[in-house]
Amino acid sequence: MKSGVLGVWKYRAFLPCDERVSIAEGGTPLYKTDRLADWVGVDELYIKNEGGNPTGSFKDRGMTVGVSKALEMGLSRVGCASTGNTSAALSIYGAKAGIDAIVLLPAGKVAMGKVAQALMHGANVISIKDNFDRALELVRQACNEKDIYLLNSVNPVRLEGQKTIGYEAVEQLGWEVPDRMFLPVGNAGNISAIHKGLREWRQHGIIEELPKMCGIQSEGSKPFVKAIKNNQKKITPEGEPETLATAIRIGNPVNGPKALNAVYDTGGTAESVSDQEIVEAQKKLARLEGIGVEPASASSVAGLKKLVDNGEVEPDEKIVCVTTGHLLKDSEEIIEVCKPPKEVEANLQTVLNHI
Ligand code: F0G
Repeated sequence: MKSGVLGVWKYRAFLPCDERVSIAEGGTPLYKTDRLADWVGVDELYIKNEGGNPTGSFKDRGMTVGVSKALEMGLSRVGCASTGNTSAALSIYGAKAGIDAIVLLPAGKVAMGKVAQALMHGANVISIKDNFDRALELVRQACNEKDIYLLNSVNPVRLEGQKTIGYEAVEQLGWEVPDRMFLPVGNAGNISAIHKGLREWRQHGIIEELPKMCGIQSEGSKPFVKAIKNNQKKITPEGEPETLATAIRIGNPVNGPKALNAVYDTGGTAESVSDQEIVEAQKKLARLEGIGVEPASASSVAGLKKLVDNGEVEPDEKIVCVTTGHLLKDSEEIIEVCKPPKEVEANLQTVLNHI
């Protein structure tokens, strides 16, 4: 199947290989969110909702390109470590391409919807008794030993696919570059990818300016934010990252140097938010705009609000927040942060009493 009007392969001229496996990834909606903008305190706010991808996260953009590259090279096995979404994406493209997908997950720290996807699409799922950073170290070694094509974001081919998020956002804004783009940061690949893509467009004269790239992390897992706040050129890894936003529970972002450059080069910024602020933003997205996202995704909006509140972002700036993964990825979290349904006797009067 070919991708739609918008979509990753529309930008093939900027991609490193031909389309060999596609499941109509990209072409996600850009919503103008006026009620959310009021809550945040800005005039114009757009949500680029990556939950609209085939597996419900932006990782599909990278994997259509990464697995196409694997096929081009005649490889029959692909692998990754993952906090969940990367593994789901690898699994569907592996399945569609008819090649083996091997994924390493941090045991007990991956939202069940993502594990379910990897299992159903037939990946070889290995849970290790440690965190994501260790899983990445191990999968890098295993891929070397076993001749498996590694498709974590250390592989630049994957990031080539993800840079199309920026292209679509600009196109959907009528070829206007937003003042700022906000992204959750975990392994720091996505913010680097979008920056790279837009820089290439600037080099080609397609756009003139770059958006200020703004990266948001959770307070319990913020090595990138610390480096930016201290104006450092290097990230100091954190040993015990912890956050309810398990997708970005990462202490040693492998794309740190590129991501730091994305922020410094564009005059952007980085901020951390508490798990509570993340849940609040997640509920606002859901209840003011009808946009259901997983916790990591909501951090982009939570971070924006914090920066507006403390005066670092002006209300008249045109903002795009990227929401990276779908609400249903992490239903355990929803049950934890929402009131459970009321269970009542099955008669009309009782039902009426509860309305
Ligand atoms: N949002 C979601 C929903 C993610 O799954 C991730 C990363 C990020 C944001 C951060 O993106 O790593 O490019 O800075 N998830 C990876 C995974 C690590 O394995 O699925 P990043």
